[in-house]
Amino acid sequence: MNSIKTIRRVGVLTGGGDCPGLNAVIRAVTKALILNHDVDVIGFEDGYEGLIENRYRELDWNAVSGILQQGGTILGTSNKADPFNHIIHQDDKLLRIDVSDRVLQNVAALNIDAVVCIGGDGSMTIARKLMDKGLPVVGVPKTIDNDLFGTDYTFGYDTAVSIAAEAIDRIHTTAQSHHRVMLVEIMGRYAGWLTLGAGLAGGADVILIPEIEYDLNVIQKIVEQRSKRGRRFSIIAVAEGAKSLGGELTVQRVIHDSPDKIRLGGISIKLSADIETATNLETRATILGHLQRGGTPTAFDRILATRYGVAAADLVVQGRYGRMVALQGGRIVDVSLEEVGGRTRTVGLDHELLHVARRTGVSLGASA
Ligand code: F6P
Repeated sequence: MNSIKTIRRVGVLTGGGDCPGLNAVIRAVTKALILNHDVDVIGFEDGYEGLIENRYRELDWNAVSGILQQGGTILGTSNKADPFNHIIHQDDKLLRIDVSDRVLQNVAALNIDAVVCIGGDGSMTIARKLMDKGLPVVGVPKTIDNDLFGTDYTFGYDTAVSIAAEAIDRIHTTAQSHHRVMLVEIMGRYAGWLTLGAGLAGGADVILIPEIEYDLNVIQKIVEQRSKRGRRFSIIAVAEGAKSLGGELTVQRVIHDSPDKIRLGGISIKLSADIETATNLETRATILGHLQRGGTPTAFDRILATRYGVAAADLVVQGRYGRMVALQGGRIVDVSLEEVGGRTRTVGLDHELLHVARRTGVSLGASA
């Protein structure tokens, strides 16, 4: 006898920062569930906020048609909402309360059999905690940072790398024409994947990532050597999470009502001043910021997001909850949410891309 419960209604939400490919996942999950299993799909609005406040809309075939190539998320998102740390304002104070029981009640009242949570590390941690409380969940890994445990690629990364690489290409023109040192600051939080990928693709001379503390003397030497050899410009790709030897992270702002309070940013401004002082060469910084998360996903991300969406729909109908779909060695697999939450996948110091960079004369800002 088949003991798998028949699935009739599934909820979908997008949590954390927006990311190219979110709509492609929403579309694939919804279409696969409707077409193959005749399941109703509803979308919660603004991520976990919608689950808490019971804000949702029906997703039928028409609602998800024509959104494959659209950036952002048609459902809205929030990187502040957390049912286990819900912020309320009382007497000018911020209080955190646990409203996860309310979430379970909302889901039960809507007759929802499972929820597909599309998000990054924070969203997967919340999904795992809801699963522990009895809510059937399936995760889909999203983030331009590519820093999620258990998967080789998150969707959104490829698009962000392409945008940042194109920005480096464009910066080259000014660097070359004006004989300047140009820094391009790239997102990625505490992991260097985005900067490493974009730096290699854009032909940066120096790539600075959070995993390798940089030495100003090394950067100065590279820039001066290039100048002496007639290469009178240098391009430096610097991750927002890069730090000098023994130095601190550069924090742009602290958002007190967000579970992940720290927003990085501004290292390129400080470093460009240091390089200019050390080398006497005109040095400028460009912070790419949210440009890297905007606009249409690349074909790779559209395909990956669609594969993830279909795989997530399969996990739901098979009753395989508490899992996150993932890409390993080119194949779609699934991993336990237990393994994923609360961990950051950084660039290993023996990663092949670091060897490739060094072997092609790219400096990583540190001696040897
Ligand atoms: O995690 C994605 C990301 O874009 C990071 O690269 C960046 O540090 C952070 O989000 C920025 O967050 P916000 O949009 O809240 O400023």
